[in-house]
Amino acid sequence: MSGHTHPCCKIGPSILCADLSCLADECRKMIHSGADYLHLDVMDGHFVPNLTFGHPIVKCLRPKMPDIYFDMHMMVQNPERWVESMADAGANQYTFHVEACEDIPALCRKIQESGMRVGVGLKPGTPVETILPYSDLFDVVLIMTVEPGFGGQSFMEDMMSKVQYLRTNFPYLDIEVDGGVGPNTIDVVAEAGANMIVSGTAITGASDPSQVIALLRNSVENAIQKSQLER
Ligand code: DX5
Ligand code: ZN
Repeated sequence: MSGHTHPCCKIGPSILCADLSCLADECRKMIHSGADYLHLDVMDGHFVPNLTFGHPIVKCLRPKMPDIYFDMHMMVQNPERWVESMADAGANQYTFHVEACEDIPALCRKIQESGMRVGVGLKPGTPVETILPYSDLFDVVLIMTVEPGFGGQSFMEDMMSKVQYLRTNFPYLDIEVDGGVGPNTIDVVAEAGANMIVSGTAITGASDPSQVIALLRNSVENAIQKSQLER
């Protein structure tokens, strides 16, 4: 389902650790700082030991920023349950976890039919082989570089072998990374071949988020350019 051009760099801040009482303002701040999309973390207290928000909040946010791409990171059990509600709320990408899903092909089709891009997330302990049989059915693979549930954790560099494997075998796939990504860790992420970069505390906690976003983008764009020259 992916295109046939090399996927470009996109930076998607996670607002998990921002001031959620001013969600729209925090999101606008990210967009004005140069974000390409917003990564919105949905947690249900079952799949992960934490709670955030669901589709009612997304529905309120959408009219305030009609053109922004919303990537819903669904850290929930029974991800099939929220597809219609998220599509109706205005989500653009529905990223579910394979560990929470019983019928991966059915869920991928359901998401696609509802008009959203299909994202498949893998927790650190889940091998990349789990999703290979369904590679025609998804648009984005999300490689978690922390255990999902909380912002501000340490980046797991050993997850880069999954990113490298996917980039080698699926040159046109959107590969997203999430967890502990910031100025100190972006270079290995970029070298491995990820092009959709989620970053939470490193961006929202910075005094100048635009500087951090520019730095992340620079690293990824350089790596993409380098890999294209090597072909
Ligand atoms: C963790 C979330 C992440 C998190 C990233 O479960 O999925 O999106 O907010 O935050 P940092 O970049 O601080 O690890
Ligand atoms: Zn996330």
